[in-house]
Amino acid sequence: MSTAVPQLREILVSEESNLAKRFRALFSLKHLGAQGDKEAIEAIAAGFSTDSALLKHELAYCLGQTKNEHAIQFLEQVLRKEDEDPMVRHESAEALGAVGLTQSLPVLEKYLSDPSEYVRQTCELAIDRIKWENSEKAKSEELQQSAYASIDPAPPLPGSGPANIKKLQDELNDQSLSLFHRYRAMFRLRDIGTHEAIDALASGFADPSALFRHEIAFVFGQMSDPHSIKALIEVAGNEKEASMVRHEAIEAIGGIASNEVEEVLKRFVNDPERVVRESAIVALDMVEFERSGEFEYAIVPDSAAAATA
Ligand SMILES: [Fe+2]
Ligand SMILES: [Fe+2]
Repeated sequence: MSTAVPQLREILVSEESNLAKRFRALFSLKHLGAQGDKEAIEAIAAGFSTDSALLKHELAYCLGQTKNEHAIQFLEQVLRKEDEDPMVRHESAEALGAVGLTQSLPVLEKYLSDPSEYVRQTCELAIDRIKWENSEKAKSEELQQSAYASIDPAPPLPGSGPANIKKLQDELNDQSLSLFHRYRAMFRLRDIGTHEAIDALASGFADPSALFRHEIAFVFGQMSDPHSIKALIEVAGNEKEASMVRHEAIEAIGGIASNEVEEVLKRFVNDPERVVRESAIVALDMVEFERSGEFEYAIVPDSAAAATA
């Protein structure tokens, strides 16, 4: 166990610490958890006692990113809590998919008929991801090396040579295809990363599924390209949009280094939706981090860089 774990755990579970600080502690713990530190994983899980859905969904995300079997029990517990916020349950199901073990299939199958569309669709994706990861096909597919270290809800579509963005955009938006395939097109477009690819991704904001739209915003957050900012501001400012999608757009805006960003984010710190307000606080902290030139976003040295769910 890293000696930093008890201190980080204390910051994470304390309702007195400010949210931005708790997020930073969480990212340090995630880094340790990804190296196989079980106490770090347990410390992250201890954070579920909070009543902030934003923080809880981030805990679930980080547990998934550790890709450690030890995280599964905690994630299952959250998914099974039917009165938990759907955003948090969604993230738990997705995280089970990220860990990628077939032992999680029964619980994911159970919630394929959940009343929440977020949860249902996420379970569908996670099942397909686990089946893919454990398939022969996964071994034979030639995926281009991604610039992103995250474990995604779906691998990018294979492809080399000149990319056909129009075709990828069609597959992204084709509702007759499985969500898993459409996500694969999404992550391929992310990896291509040109302005044309960003415009193709932005077309996904017209999709009827809020889960799908929130993933587009998530991908823009990873890309941190100012070219996506116009679409993100539109989504974040749309009060009719689902709060999970607005939250993701706000955090994505926080990751884009540009002068207008801070002013935009400040608009949301008093939003009636709690998850939107809290996202703005975390995003402003990310902007602060970028500006300060601090070496690490996380609290203990030598941790992974910031990337929220
Ligand atoms: Fe999510
Ligand atoms: Fe999120």
